[in-house]
Amino acid sequence: MAMLLGIIGGVVLVLCFCSVFLLKWNEVRYRRKGLPPGTMGWPLFGETTEFLKQGPNFMKHQRTRYGSFFKSHILGCPTIVSMDPELNRYILMNESKGLVPGYPQSMLDILGKCNIAAVHGSTHKYMRGALLSIISPTLIKDQHLPKIDEFMRSFLSHWDNRIINLQDKTKEMAFLSSLKQIAGMESSSISHPFMTEFFKLVLGTLSLPIDLPGTNYRRGLQARKNIVSILSQLLDERRESQETHQDMLGSLMMGRRENRYKLTDEEIIDLIITIMYSGYETVSTTSMMAVKYLHDHPKVLEEMRKEHFAIRERKKPEDPIDCNDLKSMRFTRAVIFETSRLATIVNGVLRKTTHDMELNGYLIPKGWRIYVYTREINYDQFLYQDPLTFNPWRWLGNSLESQSHFLIFGGGTRQCPGKELGIAEISTFLHYFVTRYRWEEVGGDKLMKFPRVEAPNGLHIRVSSFTN
Ligand code: HEM
Repeated sequence: MAMLLGIIGGVVLVLCFCSVFLLKWNEVRYRRKGLPPGTMGWPLFGETTEFLKQGPNFMKHQRTRYGSFFKSHILGCPTIVSMDPELNRYILMNESKGLVPGYPQSMLDILGKCNIAAVHGSTHKYMRGALLSIISPTLIKDQHLPKIDEFMRSFLSHWDNRIINLQDKTKEMAFLSSLKQIAGMESSSISHPFMTEFFKLVLGTLSLPIDLPGTNYRRGLQARKNIVSILSQLLDERRESQETHQDMLGSLMMGRRENRYKLTDEEIIDLIITIMYSGYETVSTTSMMAVKYLHDHPKVLEEMRKEHFAIRERKKPEDPIDCNDLKSMRFTRAVIFETSRLATIVNGVLRKTTHDMELNGYLIPKGWRIYVYTREINYDQFLYQDPLTFNPWRWLGNSLESQSHFLIFGGGTRQCPGKELGIAEISTFLHYFVTRYRWEEVGGDKLMKFPRVEAPNGLHIRVSSFTN
């Protein structure tokens, strides 16, 4: 017995020694004069486990120890975490000084080499210009909003007397609504094969880039190939038929003919994938969480309904939501911002350095990632009174939206170009939802807030028709 205890004690001692040695060795490996303070964790894995397990608390804990600008090793890379609002703005505004997007390799591989996050400098400017030209305020008003309205009106019919998994429904909604804006007429015939592949593509972008059979990464790459083939065929068919189409794909093809933005087929396809990918999780999760908060705050729901019934009273039942209606949805806009703030749909954005540089008085080596972590701003009690309360009214009557700390849609040269389009989609979804239905939660569903906002087993609601 004594011998066994001795052996166990010895093994524990050796393990402790090895752990201390490995941790120390990893610190020494990254020791360079001038780096920000912080810890690098284990070789290879760094502090990823602590980061994913403790989430926002890991960040707060490290900030207490090392300040708002510290080093770590998370998600496979040496990373600087910046939680300083001023510095965050500086980083977002200064891509030209070598602070370029630093998204994971799996994401770049699967979204394509012309994807907006993969291009910098003049190529980025050009691709972004092409994108902005097809989602301009005029095109939102004349082309996209009518399609969004037609889609939501039909998507949100016959939900009464059913139990709905809201998470699945809002994902489907974000995907199908965006496909309709992209490929108007053909969207219904390609939606089924496209959606299956698109969901695999999304999973692949969030995986480790290990190209082995059965991995999400391999499936994501294959899904990309299939989506490229669907879109290439659509481009060929449209070129053959020579018909003009009033949708995003039509505008991009027209841009080429009229010499505005002469994008190749490959660039058009990657831009379409960019649009679908960027608006998918953001729009679906914000919509799901808005419904969740409305459910939990009956006074807010009452105010929302007032706004939307006032719009309906001005119109015939078959009249679509138009731009003026959208402008009048001031409270709904506030609900969307408050949802994004309180749920923190986007925790931050990633950058990387193209060369060794000095930042905030520290050295940041070439190729290190910078996590511009904006989450904590959302709960700053100096910026938002009573920050943990869901209070959309705080967004009315003052200019919170135009303040420099408002980074829900990013900032600087990469600020979200789809902000108004996304708000139009979520507002129209909420319009038909709150005017047509009542709902209650079935209950028992878990909600995770980190690293992504999601309901691991779905968010189930029992829906019934709203009768005044
Ligand atoms: C509630 C909805 C949305 C939220 C919260 C959101 C948030 C963001 C954020 C934080 C960024 C900055 C990323 C960075 O700096 O690296 C961004 C960029 C981007 N968003 Fe959105 N987004 C939303 C909807 C949309 C929609 C509907 C589209 C579709 C057109 C879209 C397209 C893009 C694109 C293409 C970029 C990259 C811009 C660039 O790199 O120049 N977003 N978005």
